[in-house]
Amino acid sequence: MCGIVGYNGSSNCFPFLISGLKSLEYRGYDSAGVAILRDDVVHLVKTQGKLDNLREAFRQAPLEGVVGIGHTRWATHGEPNDINAHPHKFGRVTVVHNGIIENYRELKETLRDRGHHFTSGTDTEIIAHLVEDALEAGSAPLEAIWSTIGQIRGTWGIAILIDGYPSTLWCAKNGSPLILGQSPGESMVASDIPALLAYTREMIFLEDGDVAQLDGPDIRIWSAPQTPVTRPPQTIQWNPIMAEKGGYKHFMLKEIFEQPRSVADTIGERLHADTHTVTFDDFSFVPDRFDRIFLVACGTSYYAALIGKYLIEAMARMPVEVDMGSEFRYRDPLITERDLLITISQSGETADTLAALSLAKSRGATALGIVNVLGSAIARKSDHTIYTHAGPEIGVASTKAFSAQVSVLILLAIHMGIATQRLSGQDLADVVDALVRLPKQINELLAQSAQINVIARRYAHSPAFLFIGRGINYPVALEGALKLKEISYVHAEGYPAGEMKHGPIALIDEELPVLAVATESNITEKMISNIEEVKSRRGKVIAIATQGDVHMGSIADDLFLVPRTHPLLQPVLTVIPLQLFAYYTADIKGTDIDQPRNLAKSVTVE
Ligand code: F6R
Repeated sequence: MCGIVGYNGSSNCFPFLISGLKSLEYRGYDSAGVAILRDDVVHLVKTQGKLDNLREAFRQAPLEGVVGIGHTRWATHGEPNDINAHPHKFGRVTVVHNGIIENYRELKETLRDRGHHFTSGTDTEIIAHLVEDALEAGSAPLEAIWSTIGQIRGTWGIAILIDGYPSTLWCAKNGSPLILGQSPGESMVASDIPALLAYTREMIFLEDGDVAQLDGPDIRIWSAPQTPVTRPPQTIQWNPIMAEKGGYKHFMLKEIFEQPRSVADTIGERLHADTHTVTFDDFSFVPDRFDRIFLVACGTSYYAALIGKYLIEAMARMPVEVDMGSEFRYRDPLITERDLLITISQSGETADTLAALSLAKSRGATALGIVNVLGSAIARKSDHTIYTHAGPEIGVASTKAFSAQVSVLILLAIHMGIATQRLSGQDLADVVDALVRLPKQINELLAQSAQINVIARRYAHSPAFLFIGRGINYPVALEGALKLKEISYVHAEGYPAGEMKHGPIALIDEELPVLAVATESNITEKMISNIEEVKSRRGKVIAIATQGDVHMGSIADDLFLVPRTHPLLQPVLTVIPLQLFAYYTADIKGTDIDQPRNLAKSVTVE
């Protein structure tokens, strides 16, 4: 996790470093720091806590220079304090690092025996020591960096400055993302696209094992010692405004309101409404090729995967297994070359999902990634990729990425259903027509967001919540509960409504509100019975129902209506009131909505 930035050009680098770190703060916000080259020497400013603390420290000790690096941290090794904040400097060498050096303890022991003194509790500091050690032994900087890389194990995105080299910045990548940008007179590096967007749309994605050297605007890359390599730049379609709040109080709220656009962009030209077909640039399903489909993801993306199971099984009648990355990777799954693994990930970097992907590939399975971030590790390691066009998602709690993932899964299920000949005629026409209407319906629904705000206020001080749903809305209940707990810190549990009698109903009293996702389906009556059971135990029910439902209003204490759609498409609509409910509850509580405690957006460690 953690975000890194670096700048080498002709302007004062601090504005780039601070704005880049701001856009990477979603990757961690335990501490932040910068290192700037001035008069041949690298100077450090670093503090515990968020960027505002760094800004203040910098204001008290300003530094100007045209070459610098910066870091925002999510602590893995060593508590989040000033000493453990990056950059780390030893001798002439200053480093920022995103990733984990797994063998840092052994390396530290060896260096300690040779008289090295370590000041921090981090794994990162070892990098500065190893490079310095090699410099001491007479290596040139590039050689010293390759020698260091030869000794460390783990994952890294690194940027390095060295005293006495006033116009050079080095970086290296393995397992953690690193992107280079170039504009007239300057070059830069960052962990993610938004940090560079204000400067350039032409970006170079480093590959694992690469080392790069930035001298002013000149960039040179090596894939191994003495092996120069050319990595052509890619043009990024995202624009800088997409990575700004645009007048919304929080990124999360902005991203919730972007969903009509992001769902429409994701469906885009893949859906041919006139011919009732779906095509993808990089994937075409051949039914005889596969026996089973595995969907693997983490967190919110895992809930999208659960929805994917309902969709693919209903439309294509193919068996689907769903797993969390962290479970799949250690359970010795029965996956073979006759199976299709679909991973789902907003960041494309999640460590457990990546490990699941490697495992499935090692067993010969075909890998398809559903990913939001262009050029991310999962996109690169998959045999095929379908991008969600959600645009940059900055709020740590995922919203628009989820609805875009579900939109891709709907498209994929239609595509597979046509290929397996299990979806045709009127059934196919109905689902295609409903999909075309979806973005407009999300818009209509968002226009009623004030109603959710009122409901959220009514229940904001409840100590816990239960979210229930059935069928394809059961994963939506899980997602609603996750959203609420991660940003409002209130305990919430998602449960299949039909399982209530097997235990959780014992929790029901007037203190525990139940959010019931109860839109129209072939099992609406079962859902109504579950709601009645809650009501008869004095429970309070907030129901999400379908417009035109005349029944639900008389049973539920509070009601929110969503537009009618095809039953299999409901999650894209029903999740939105739950996202808003979590948002407004957290806002009333005054929590840090875009950067909730203990979390980071990209979970690159297991
Ligand atoms: C919750 C959330 C996380 C992510 C999870 C997977 O709001 O954002 O649960 O969904 O960490 O991340 P990606 O999709 O990047 O693999």
